[in-house]
Amino acid sequence: MEKREELYAGKAKSVYRTDDPNLFVLEFRDDTSAFDGQKVEQLNRKGRVNNQFNAFIMEKLAAAGIPTHFEGLLSPHESLVKKLDMIPVECVVRNISAGSLCRRLGVEEGLELTPPTYELFLKNDALHDPMVNEAISISLGWATADELEQMKVLTYKVNDVLKTLFDQAGMLLVDYKLEFGRADGTIVLGDEFSPDGCRIWDKDTRTKMDKDRFRQGLGDVIEAYEEVGHRLGMQFN
Ligand code: ADP
Ligand code: TMP
Ligand code: ASP
Repeated sequence: MEKREELYAGKAKSVYRTDDPNLFVLEFRDDTSAFDGQKVEQLNRKGRVNNQFNAFIMEKLAAAGIPTHFEGLLSPHESLVKKLDMIPVECVVRNISAGSLCRRLGVEEGLELTPPTYELFLKNDALHDPMVNEAISISLGWATADELEQMKVLTYKVNDVLKTLFDQAGMLLVDYKLEFGRADGTIVLGDEFSPDGCRIWDKDTRTKMDKDRFRQGLGDVIEAYEEVGHRLGMQFN
């Protein structure tokens, strides 16, 4: 597959056109950002670790019947994906309280949330990803009611698969963000699932093993991502 011109450079990844109008190349860069682009750094090996992490997880999800955009690895830091018409609403599931939920509701970190919560955020850095809901998303034309229902069902299905996977490897999947898009009239999981877009804690010590290490300046960020991957059975090139 020939990689053609860059179509979009995001904060951490770049999207390239290919010879095939239905396929894109997703390049995972080492650029790391937090707080809607306010904290920016290069973290050596991050691109390749997240690309390979994402490939492993997307394959597990596909095996569980979840439609994903992932088509295959092209290089250590590049993947071939289905071209999606992205929906600008991010789906967040929380199994344990942390982050913005604690700040917003004044609850302590680490509470088990049963059932897991489901929240929607508008993907918009300038507005700091404000929380939205299904009615707003429909009224403003971001997605249809049917699409939003499919996104919710798929997001919970991802939770069923990944919560168990992490638990069996001695980790807690605290929360995560998913992005979906449209391809041929159906809703498909897009973007990435990696320690950049979720919170993962060690089950016994509750040590943070995700991007909160970068946000909070704890160090050893990529080492922690690799440790998560190794525990799940990944090998990184
Ligand atoms: P951001 O846009 O938030 O800075 P990234 O740096 O991760 O994020 O850039 C990747 C961009 O590619 C995101 O805007 C994401 O929505 C988009 N994207 C992810 N998967 C696909 C896909 N399969 N087709 C089209 N766009 C995609
Ligand atoms: P939050 O606690 O900041 O709302 O984030 C919840 C989870 O979703 C956390 O794992 C980070 C992830 N997330 C992103 O990666 N990007 C986003 O834009 C949002 C809103 C959440
Ligand atoms: N949304 C991502 C985060 O909060 C990246 C960013 O905000 O710059 O970590």
